[in-house]
Amino acid sequence: MSNTSEVGRSGAAHTEALLLAPTPAAWVAEASARWQELLLDHANCEKKAASTALALMFAYPEDRPLALALARLAREELRHFEQVLRVMNELGVPFARQRPGRYAHGLRSVLRTSDPGRKLDLLLMSALIEARSAERFALLAPHLPAPLARLYADLGVAEARHYELYVGFAQAADSHGWRTRLATLAGREAELATAPDPVLRFHSGPPQAR
Ligand SMILES: [Fe+2]
Ligand SMILES: [Fe+2]
Repeated sequence: MSNTSEVGRSGAAHTEALLLAPTPAAWVAEASARWQELLLDHANCEKKAASTALALMFAYPEDRPLALALARLAREELRHFEQVLRVMNELGVPFARQRPGRYAHGLRSVLRTSDPGRKLDLLLMSALIEARSAERFALLAPHLPAPLARLYADLGVAEARHYELYVGFAQAADSHGWRTRLATLAGREAELATAPDPVLRFHSGPPQAR
């Protein structure tokens, strides 16, 4: 994609162009302290990122440039999943079932349910999730044990590239309307990422007072 320059070309430093609110410091503190739990949710996020990309390919098979980009992206997300599993092994974190947090469901609840409009919303939702991931990897990396810190720093760069890719396709899907729609979805995303949350997850809000 060539027209993503206004969103930024590289690195998590540009996520503020998309995200309406930064991650609260209280989330970073809690997530750094409970990194094992977070790592488990993170593994699930990588799997989910791959399956979301595949679902988009199935939903819009006529869009070949999108299908090709998403095929690559899905493979990359599965490699991320494998990397997370390796680090979990290294650090002795067992794999277990975990209840999903409110974030993905909360975002999906504001998407339009049919086209025209659904495709743009799905692309923008994915862009926002990738941007939030990139921001949080960069915030967490300095606070984590060595193998994880390295992995998170690398993933921050990869997810920033992914949000730019999704934004590029969103611009192509609706060159006039994408900004207005982005503002609505980004508003919802910022609420979910910053309002006190009963559950700690990679995309949750800061911990609710107990
Ligand atoms: Fe990823
Ligand atoms: Fe990603």
